Amino acid sequence: MKVDVVLGLQWGDEGKGKIVDVLAKNYPVICRFQGGPNAGHSLQFSKKSFVLHSVPAGVFRKNTVNIIGNGVVLDPIIFKEETEAIAKMGVDPTKNVVISKRAHLILPTHRIMDAASEASKGKGKIGSTLKGIGPTYMDKTGRNGLRVGDALAKDFKKRFNALKAKHIEYLKQFDFQYDPSQNEKEWMKAIEYLKKFKIVDGEYELNNLLKTKKALAEGAQGTMLDVDFGAYPFVTSSSTICAGACTGLGLAPSKIGKVYGVFKAYCTRVGSGPFPTELLDSVGEDIRQKGHEFGATTGRPRRTGWLDIPALKFAIMVDGATDLIMMKADVLDSFDTIKVATGYIVDGKKTDRVPFDTFSKIEPVYKEFKGWKTDLTKCKSAKELPAAFKRYIAFIEKELKVKISYVSVGPDRSQTIKM
Ligand code: GDP
Ligand code: IMO
Ligand code: MG
Repeated sequence: MKVDVVLGLQWGDEGKGKIVDVLAKNYPVICRFQGGPNAGHSLQFSKKSFVLHSVPAGVFRKNTVNIIGNGVVLDPIIFKEETEAIAKMGVDPTKNVVISKRAHLILPTHRIMDAASEASKGKGKIGSTLKGIGPTYMDKTGRNGLRVGDALAKDFKKRFNALKAKHIEYLKQFDFQYDPSQNEKEWMKAIEYLKKFKIVDGEYELNNLLKTKKALAEGAQGTMLDVDFGAYPFVTSSSTICAGACTGLGLAPSKIGKVYGVFKAYCTRVGSGPFPTELLDSVGEDIRQKGHEFGATTGRPRRTGWLDIPALKFAIMVDGATDLIMMKADVLDSFDTIKVATGYIVDGKKTDRVPFDTFSKIEPVYKEFKGWKTDLTKCKSAKELPAAFKRYIAFIEKELKVKISYVSVGPDRSQTIKM
């Protein structure tokens, strides 16, 4: 059987958590394949809401196997807090969450390195969530890291101390005050707690399950934050694109089925870096307030802007999206006019390509639409959607040449329309 993939097509926070939760009823296996607790995936159902950081969004379904893949970086402290909170909701995550031995561990010193690196960058900072993501992936590719499977070894503490000593050496280059033993006791306790979970050969586990079951892979962040294809260096440190699901799970490319590209009816971004359609005026503020655009992980206000078609085309190309899912259209319900960027003017020249140079001056070319001025949150089926909204999505489908399979009109599981 195949693995379908849910990916963010923008700068993260597209609503991946909600959609994975909606789709999860059709998939006995849900997997995270990259990123770590920099992610904040919100779910809402039965008048309850929840934000997940490290655990796949299938966790609230008892019979779903939730795999944390090798491509993920795991902070045991955050994982413990998260799974203890899940347990309070009546699900026992030790029964339905399994962790790849090959997933890398975020050490307390990784978080310190993240903070020191950001502080040293001043105005040029990435705007990291400061969860230690970048330094942990640095240690992974630098072949220094500690993996979840290592926690089972007798000499784990010795290996931990050796890596911590390297980090202390590394931190000498920064003028940064810190306590080298910060959170260490809590971290070690959380490592013991982690051992209550099934720690598995994730690639064997998933490929065995695929003999009889289909799976859904849940992307974190978004394509425009990908370490290769985002506006470097204002990116995260993992492969957020579809190919990341292969390397982050031990999955052959031929096993990929549908690729669901999730995007908002407008754009948001949190942290630094280029954002061509950003609105710094009252319209942007209106989107932020109506869309409750504040980070699910850090609480930071999200930057807001109009929909960006060149960026979406780019994301669809690198991801191979087969189906699109449009989120949060309801946020634009009261707008008289809605704009969509159909192209860019980069350094005076018209183009529909995303430029390589992160520091290029990009001016969007807009097309205007009349707003639908209807409360979409009450719509239950495609038939009920207003004509002006249907024109908006028909235009987007025509531009992107991929069908919109679902439209989300509210945060709740039930506010999802199959097109
Ligand atoms: P993720 O990181 O991609 O899972 O997205 P986040 O959870 O960080 O951010 C999406 C936010 O939008 C959350 O607060 C969701 O509850 C909310 N949300 C999701 N879909 C919709 C929708 O269709 N309409 C509205 N109004 N809110 C939505
Ligand atoms: P979800 O999965 C939005 C952003 C940060 C920063 C950059 C690098 O909820 O969509 P990092 O902590 O990885 O070093 O930060 O990436 N970022 C996200 N933005 N949603 C996320 O995850 C993000 N994860 C990281 O704001 O600009
Ligand atoms: Mg999020």
